[in-house]
Amino acid sequence: MEERFLSEGSRGSEVEHDTRLRPENFQEYIGQKRVVENVELMVKSALKRNAAMDHALLSGPPGLGKTSLAMLIAKNIGSELHVISGPAIEKKGDLAAVLTNLAPRDVLFIDEIHRMHISVEEILYSAMEDYRLDILIGQGASARTMQIDLVPFTLVGATTRSGLLSNPLRDRFMAHLHFDYYDAEELSQIISNNAKKMSMQMEDQAKSEIAKRSRGTPRIANRILRRVRDFALVQNHAVVQFEDVQKALKLLDIDSLGLDSMDRKILSVIRNYYQNGPVGIDALSATLGEDKQTIEEVYEPYLLKEGLLLRTPRGRTLSEKAIDHIN
Ligand SMILES: Nc1ncnc2c1ncn2[C@@H]1O[C@H](COP(=O)(O)OP(=O)(O)O)[C@@H](O)[C@H]1O
Ligand SMILES: [Mg+2]
Repeated sequence: MEERFLSEGSRGSEVEHDTRLRPENFQEYIGQKRVVENVELMVKSALKRNAAMDHALLSGPPGLGKTSLAMLIAKNIGSELHVISGPAIEKKGDLAAVLTNLAPRDVLFIDEIHRMHISVEEILYSAMEDYRLDILIGQGASARTMQIDLVPFTLVGATTRSGLLSNPLRDRFMAHLHFDYYDAEELSQIISNNAKKMSMQMEDQAKSEIAKRSRGTPRIANRILRRVRDFALVQNHAVVQFEDVQKALKLLDIDSLGLDSMDRKILSVIRNYYQNGPVGIDALSATLGEDKQTIEEVYEPYLLKEGLLLRTPRGRTLSEKAIDHIN
């Protein structure tokens, strides 16, 4: 991995801890059926053609399995995965160095690809389309372009919202794969598998409770699972009980709908400051003191999916369900 270019993302340390829990093959990769079907087909086709797999764009909220899928792609192609974070690459030369170091059929995973600097992004266009780098050398009258051939490689881009990508970049991905939140049954399966990997035994009721409160997100299920393990361990419970789960959820400040404190803050700000809405995203962001993009990409999708938040042409409003919930 080109660790230099990994961002110091808010979830950095968690990513490290997650490695043990990552699905090791497509069978262990639960849910996202359409995405997985597409990817398995593309991998098989690439292997038969003895070529690099087509470039793929993975979009969806954080923690739904984009990085894990990129790892499975490289593993199944039998090539190496190179991971970089879009916003962490500041110079064209840095990306050029990564690209020229790829071996044939390697997978380059660019996380948060929508946040790449535009000048850096531009060198991806010919790299993706023709496996070629066009680099401008010098300035003014003496400027000329130099071309460097690249080996065939696969770019897998991850983004929280594909709509945030520039058109030229989005158009160069042959596959656009969208990730949805997981249902409780899929999450239960993931929790079962991961509990086993952590050598934990659990009551079924404990598993399904974690699934219900995980915000449709495997990464959150893992986070709860770890805390639950701590409780069970300290209590000397050989088999994890429902009670351990309840205690862990309380400590993590996760409520009956799986909302965390920020989710609830968004709902209560709309109620208390904006009389249940409608409120525009700019006003909401200012009142919350939270970045607009983060609200739109991390928090809102789940609140919308659960029918707590409604989007109208005049802004966001609270649903009856949301009003009941915060009361
Ligand atoms: N489809 C899945 N099946 C099993 N576990 C999953 C799946 N998707 C995600 N996970 C779990 O959630 C964790 C976070 O997923 P990750 O791939 O890092 O999400 P993203 O890159 O979309 O933020 C993984 O380490 C893995 O344990
Ligand atoms: Mg990721």
